Amino acid sequence: MFERIFGFPPSVVASAPGRVNLLGEHTDYNQGYVLPTPLPYQTELEAAPTESLEVYAENFREHKRRALGQPRQGDWLDYIAGCIWVLHQHGYRVPGLRAYVRSQVPMGGGLSSSAALEVATLRALRALYQLPLDDQTIARLAQEAEVAYVGVRCGIMDQMASSLGRLGYALFLDTQSLESRLVPLPEGYRVVVVDSGVPRRLAESGYNTRRSECEAACALLGVPSLRALSPADAPRIEALPEPLNRRARHVLRENQRVLEGVEALEAGQVARFGQLMVASHRSLRDDYQVSTPELDQLVEAELRHGAVGARLTGAGFGGATVALVPEGAFQRFKEGVLQDYPQARFL
Ligand code: GLA
Repeated sequence: MFERIFGFPPSVVASAPGRVNLLGEHTDYNQGYVLPTPLPYQTELEAAPTESLEVYAENFREHKRRALGQPRQGDWLDYIAGCIWVLHQHGYRVPGLRAYVRSQVPMGGGLSSSAALEVATLRALRALYQLPLDDQTIARLAQEAEVAYVGVRCGIMDQMASSLGRLGYALFLDTQSLESRLVPLPEGYRVVVVDSGVPRRLAESGYNTRRSECEAACALLGVPSLRALSPADAPRIEALPEPLNRRARHVLRENQRVLEGVEALEAGQVARFGQLMVASHRSLRDDYQVSTPELDQLVEAELRHGAVGARLTGAGFGGATVALVPEGAFQRFKEGVLQDYPQARFL
């Protein structure tokens, strides 16, 4: 496709996947633990070197150019321009990029289509200009591009999952030290991602409000991050004003759930893992308050029809759920869920 658009073949092809988070929600910007897994859907870039920025995006059927050094414009090209910008900030020589981009990652459903685009772009630039970047550095630069250029104050989970994740494994990541480990997903189960069919509403403002609430809770508790809390701090958390008490309680318990979830997966205790997913959803609904009536209905339907665990995934406020379903029960699960929640879109 690159050749059809630009008239000569690409020099490199690079890709990166979206992700779904199994456990550990709204913990990454609190220096906590997360447990995402990559999706079998990729964003792919065919690319060649040049001295400007010129990209054709298949999903939008749009051809765009931007002079390097220009600020963000609020469009999809920001994610790619941001990657070049961040490399320049760090002193790397990147003259420009000509690319054809195509994404299989569903957009706007909380499955990290933006992280996939950033990581794929940085991989393409690494290959084009022989940049000495390892996968963790790529994830860090991708997050920096999103925060400082695109202007979304995300944590580092999505970019790390896209850059370091491996199909069939969960990535157990400590977002404070950036230490990570691959944990095999249970055999005989399917990770099922279902979109609620409701686009995320107020996701950005709600997300930023939650971040500020966590910062306010830290200030009152006198801790550098909510990661520093332990179960012994529970009485102090309960003494915080509403809703800061709920926010801190969610983060403390969600971090514990990730640690326990990794233990459960490694011990082959799938039912226990499923219960932790359900507890995570309830905490996101009641304490973190980022669920919606539709996500709640969908999760309940999934549990009624054979999922061992189900929860909203990603930031919340709409978007997708993730469920763990025994292979043999999948067909019945799908039919049952569609009956109770006809807008469900199975990935
Ligand atoms: C979004 C952000 C992530 C993370 C999740 C919530 O996906 O991009 O960094 O904060 O929300 O867990």
